[in-house]
Amino acid sequence: MERELALEVVRVTEMAALASSHWLGRGKKNEADGAATNAMRTMFDTINMRGTVVIGEGELDEAPMLYIGEKLGHAESTGPEVDVAVDPLEGTTIVAKGHNNAMSVVAIGDRGTLLHAPDMYMMKMAVGKRAAGKIHLNDPVEKMIEVVAQANGKRIQDVTVIIQERERHQEIINAVREKGARVKLFGDGDVGAAIAACMPQTGIDLFLGIGGAPEGVISAAAIKCLDGDMQAQLRPQNEAERQRCIKMGLKDPEQLLTLSDLVKGDDAIFAATGVSDGELLKGVRYLGDDLVETDSIVMRAKTKTIRFVRALHNLTQKQYLIGR
Ligand code: FBP
Repeated sequence: MERELALEVVRVTEMAALASSHWLGRGKKNEADGAATNAMRTMFDTINMRGTVVIGEGELDEAPMLYIGEKLGHAESTGPEVDVAVDPLEGTTIVAKGHNNAMSVVAIGDRGTLLHAPDMYMMKMAVGKRAAGKIHLNDPVEKMIEVVAQANGKRIQDVTVIIQERERHQEIINAVREKGARVKLFGDGDVGAAIAACMPQTGIDLFLGIGGAPEGVISAAAIKCLDGDMQAQLRPQNEAERQRCIKMGLKDPEQLLTLSDLVKGDDAIFAATGVSDGELLKGVRYLGDDLVETDSIVMRAKTKTIRFVRALHNLTQKQYLIGR
């Protein structure tokens, strides 16, 4: 994959974040998601690439744009053939409520490298570089904490596990607390949480829990860039979901998925722009005088370069964002 693609793709997440930030705190999650999707779709068509959406807003009959199978990139493109996974607005409810942690995210891989995860639940575990390869998804939580404490050079009491605040996670939460480690709960947005577990500066050591499978694949692309580790397992809720897994080529729908099953090969690009403040990025800031500031991260697995991009946008040059 051409490295220029990394910088192009951050413009895509910036525009989606800017568009959805208008809806922050207005109680309208569909409008926020629609604005992000629209802006993301428009920006993709300015890029010299031949992309195919493998993770998007839904199947063709469910989503008018960024649907699975949709082609992205400008019309005369001779650019690389790539798989594209998008979540124009990761945290639609967050934005509606004006809460923290919403981002706009994109992952790109060479054609055929990103798992075509269906829209269903997935159990996920993520850790940073020092604990990579040392933890198995099926290990008891107590053992995971011991291993991560040793790998990260911490006492058990100083280990932090980030978990989405859901009833289904109560057993895991209890086990972490009984072991003596700390739990950091978050409401929505598990892509940011999984990434935070791979960045030592966040103080978070382990991410555990069940969330969306599409978000899992997007997180895996970021974790590959960060040299961390992730394991996952799809959690079909009924026979129809089990059949969907089998149709997508997984003989055993509940098989263990390693980082290389989620994102094959050694290259991937991940970009995210904060919509509201989160572990990783600050949200969109309206500074007055038509100036708006965004913070983004863009990373590439092949080179392991991590760029934080702060951009100042002038709304007079982006009329379409004012006239929403
Ligand atoms: P949306 O942006 O689609 O609202 O997803 C937010 C999210 O928190 C994801 O980050 C997570 O994977 C999923 O929802 C968890 O699903 P649920 O809300 O059903 O527990």
